Parts: sequence; C-alpha cells; structure tokens
Amino acid sequence: MTTNLIPDIDLDLFSEITRLKKEKNAIILAHYYQNSDIQDIADFIGDSLQLSQEAEKTNADIIVFAGVHFMAETAKILNPNKKVLIPDLKAGCSLSDSCPPESFIEFKNQHNDHIVISYINCSAEIKALSDVICTSSNAKKIVESFPIEQKIIFAPDKNLGAYINKITGREMLLWNGSCMVHELFSKNKLENIKRNHPDALIIAHPECEDQILKIVDYIGSTTSLLNFTVNNQANKFIVVTETGILHQMQKKSPNKIFIPAPPDNSCACNDCPHMKRNTLEKLYSCLLNELPEIVIPELTRAKAYLSIKKMLDLS
Ligand code: 13P
Ligand code: SF4
Repeated sequence: MTTNLIPDIDLDLFSEITRLKKEKNAIILAHYYQNSDIQDIADFIGDSLQLSQEAEKTNADIIVFAGVHFMAETAKILNPNKKVLIPDLKAGCSLSDSCPPESFIEFKNQHNDHIVISYINCSAEIKALSDVICTSSNAKKIVESFPIEQKIIFAPDKNLGAYINKITGREMLLWNGSCMVHELFSKNKLENIKRNHPDALIIAHPECEDQILKIVDYIGSTTSLLNFTVNNQANKFIVVTETGILHQMQKKSPNKIFIPAPPDNSCACNDCPHMKRNTLEKLYSCLLNELPEIVIPELTRAKAYLSIKKMLDLS
C-alpha cells in the first residue's frame, strides 16, 4: 500500500507543476546537478552559461531557477522586472561563499592595476566588483579577449584559474577559493578505478585540483562533458564531477557505462549538498506560492549586469 502511494504523489506533482507553469506563464530552468526528477520536469537544462543565455531571452513572467543561489541571482540580474524564484533559498555554493565581498574589496584595492574576471560562481556583490564574468565553458575565451600584458585578478576559483593560466600561458592573480565537491576527489581511488576499467576514459570538470586534471583524458564544463560522452567512440566513462550530470549522460547514451568518480572518503561528497537541497516538493510549493523570491538591491544589480552582459556579448 505504502509503496503505491509514492508514484501517485510524484505523478500529481508532475501534473500540478505542469499546470501551474502554464497558468502562470512560468519557465523552469534547471542545472545538470539537480535531482533527476527536477531535470525531467524542467523546460531547459544546461550548464551555467546556457542557463544565463536562456534566462536572458525568455518571455516567461516567472523564472523558477532549479539550481543554486548565484545562478538564480544571475537570472534576476538579467531580468529585473520578472519574478525569479528558487525552490530553496538556502541552496548556496561553497565556492561563492569562499569570496566575501569585504575581503575581496581589500584584495582588489591592493592590486588596483589589475582588472577582475570572476567565475559566475560568486555573489551579485562580487559580480558588481568585477569587470567581466566567465563560466567554465567560456573562461579561456574571456581571458584571451584581453591582451597578454593585461594584469588580471581571477576570482573566486583557484583551481579553474590555475587551469586557465596553464592553457593560456597567463599569470593571473588567483583568489584562494574552491568548490567543496570538486576538491574532494581522490587521485588514488581514481587511479584504482582506471586500473579496473582500462577501457574507460576519465573526464573532469575544471573545478577539480591540478593533481586530478593532470591524469584525466578530457576537461570541460558540464555541457562539454555531456557532449563528449555522446560524440566519443568510447563506451565507458569515469565522470569526475557532481553526480547529477550522469542522468543526462545515461539518457543520451543508454548503452554506455558511466562510473561516478569517488571522493576521498566514504561520504557522498560527489553530490553537491547545496544543489540537492532543491526537491520536486519544494519546486511545486515555490511555483504555487511564488516564494522564495530572489531580491537584489538595484545598485548592486545594475553594476553586476554590466559584467554579465559583457560576458554574454563575448560568448
Ligand atoms: P558549469 O559551468 O559546468 O555549469 O558548472 C557549474 C558548477 O557549479 C560546477 O560546480
Ligand atoms: Fe558550488 Fe561546487 Fe556545488 Fe557547484 S558543485 S554549486 S561550485 S558547491
């Protein structure tokens, strides 16, 4: 009896969310790290860049952002007159939190001959203090749009920054931030899995540490990793990023094998605890009640808009 109730509840939520979406002219944007049921009900699934591009062009009155806070904030920065909702307001990001505005202002003042390129995983305040934003899929392009002699601060991800320094030959000054999920992958465990699956390719997100990136076969944003698994001849992939992406990988290549890379201990640390705060139930209630809503002071929003717009124009 009890087991029969669960699919019924899910089925209702799916149809209720679909009904509310239509009634309210709302769109659901979801990141690849969301739970699979949220990905399945979303109107659009993508990486950070695609989601901001989608947010920029939508005609919907309400944007429900199934992702973390900085992503929903980006949608609001681009759409000050639309209602932007997030299923759980506490869905934050350790990388964004590793760059508090007060400390960043001090750092910036110590290097006032540098321009600031910030990874999109930062708060609206940091975006307002930046010259241009980038994501993991366009970071190289954005950095290379500046002349080689231009002094650059790259914030907040030291791992992505170090990777971009390496592939562009730049010496950007790096803010000391990182992602709690991508920093915990174990090199030893990864090498063990590879020994057991010599036919598998290892693919990783550039938020991983250099010791991991050195031993992988391919590095890219979530969308780029997904496309790689679709287009590459290999049948087996060890995936070194948050596990949510495996849902689309498996959907697009049902006959291929995807092995999530293990973290350094026995926890489920390859699941982002912030992304996973969003649930289908919270998504439903947020659409129904039109809460919680993203609110940003106008001065911050207007400044942050300039750095995001610059990225979108360069992309
Ligand atoms: P993407 O740019 O690949 O979407 O990455 C976002 C993110 O939060 C990775 O941790
Ligand atoms: Fe932030 Fe890392 Fe989670 Fe991405 S995976 S949202 S960078 S904490």
